[in-house]
Amino acid sequence: MTVNQRRGTVSAEQAERESQLVERAVASFEGTSDPRLKELMQALTRHLHAFLREVRLTEEEWQRAIEFLTAVGHITDDRRQEFILLSDVLGASMQTITINNEAQANATEATVFGPFFVEGSPEIEPGGDIAAGAAGEPCWVEGTVTDTDGQPVPHALIEVWEADQDGFYDVQYDDRVAARGHLFSDAGGRYRFWAVAPTPYPIPHDGPAGRLLAATGRSPMRASHLHFMVKADGFRTLVTHIFVRGDELLGRDSVFGVRDSLVMDFTPQPPGTPPPDGRDLGDRAWSRVSFDVVLARAAAP
Ligand SMILES: [Fe+2]
Repeated sequence: MTVNQRRGTVSAEQAERESQLVERAVASFEGTSDPRLKELMQALTRHLHAFLREVRLTEEEWQRAIEFLTAVGHITDDRRQEFILLSDVLGASMQTITINNEAQANATEATVFGPFFVEGSPEIEPGGDIAAGAAGEPCWVEGTVTDTDGQPVPHALIEVWEADQDGFYDVQYDDRVAARGHLFSDAGGRYRFWAVAPTPYPIPHDGPAGRLLAATGRSPMRASHLHFMVKADGFRTLVTHIFVRGDELLGRDSVFGVRDSLVMDFTPQPPGTPPPDGRDLGDRAWSRVSFDVVLARAAAP
């Protein structure tokens, strides 16, 4: 019997029993003293019951859901956060970010933070190299940091981090600090640095979230990207990535992080093309990208 057939068989008496139960469960939170907690719990209860009733959840399916969530808990520890992965692949992380980074004029869009940021990254000089030995094709990154009126934002803190050409972050090796760093915009709001060309990589998919992706025919791959976090006094902190135009994964990023406005031209430079800073790259190919950051004003306190 299909879901629609099952739904069609619900009698008026049955529907009444079900809706009375929803009302009782929602009303049970009526005495919550914290008004926000009350709102969250009552809405969660209403939506959860609506889901159960819509799909006519079987008891066997309920049992499997409990087992799945139990497995998500069991694999989670200080280093592995499967609940965040699950939230990511359901689009819940990205939706929360979207809700909390309301559009403001032409301010750069935010996207997922991801699990690989590390506090205390090395500071690099303007034009310096964040690679620190990470394997990958050199990539020159430059741009400006401005406000939404186009005025430069000097001395903005710019944190950048990325995977190497094999798709791994330094923290996944345990023996290095590489392909991450921080720098500051100059008096004119400009910044520039060397990185490595971003590459695609899979989110950890050897646990329940990965099994969910496999069961539903979805890929764990993330589109190639370079992470940015930009902070300046008086502005909303921007957490974002830039993506590579032409990457075949742009339309099926496993965590829904791609925004059209964040897709950039990474322009290939054939071997022998002189880099902007005169760096000697021998016979290596390199690429360059320009990314102008526009910061939104911080909300009034
Ligand atoms: Fe990433």
